[in-house]
Amino acid sequence: MFTIGILASGKGTNLQAIIDYIKEENLPIKIGIVISDNPEAYALERAKKEGIRNICIPCEKYKTILDKETEIKYIEVLKENNVELVCLAGFMRILKKNFIKNFPNKIINIHPSLLPAFPGLESWKKALEYGVRFTGCTVHFVDEGIDSGPIILQAVVPILQDDTPEILHKRIQEKEHIIYPLAIRLIAEGRVSIVGRKVYIR
Ligand code: GAR
Repeated sequence: MFTIGILASGKGTNLQAIIDYIKEENLPIKIGIVISDNPEAYALERAKKEGIRNICIPCEKYKTILDKETEIKYIEVLKENNVELVCLAGFMRILKKNFIKNFPNKIINIHPSLLPAFPGLESWKKALEYGVRFTGCTVHFVDEGIDSGPIILQAVVPILQDDTPEILHKRIQEKEHIIYPLAIRLIAEGRVSIVGRKVYIR
């Protein structure tokens, strides 16, 4: 069994897509733990419903990062649960150096744009406001920058003239739910390697 840990702050539709894909494909992948920084996150409910271990580790001190003690707790819980790959699924905090050092090339993220375009928050809104015709989503390794690590998979989504931010985000999420579980599977199967900025898939 390849054990993954999932960090989620919100609705958890990506978490659900990962759960469903593992079941449908009968993959030897176990979600060892789901951690949220937000006690209200529906992601925690989804984990409970599926009988997946879950915990809320809040961080009152900051909004966009974890303070040192909280960061240590996250690392401990992930290690206690033998997590081999940390998957950020709508986790709305930036992980710092110490966290990343503990899981070298073992943290991935799903981002709602075609990186390197529109890093940061609410990227679908940025794409819509900019007027690009296509956007999409990206699964990438997490490094010390913001949404800047080596790219594993991307999917393209057209932007239509009458799109609202909500409609566009929904269209992007449909693709997220396909490429994120797939990227996890490829890594679990040992088919992904990184050379410099480039990711090779066998
Ligand atoms: C997803 O669209 C994900 O790409 C985005 O948050 C949403 C979480 O949805 N992540 C970021 O913007 C990270 N910067 P979910 O809770 O339904 O999976």
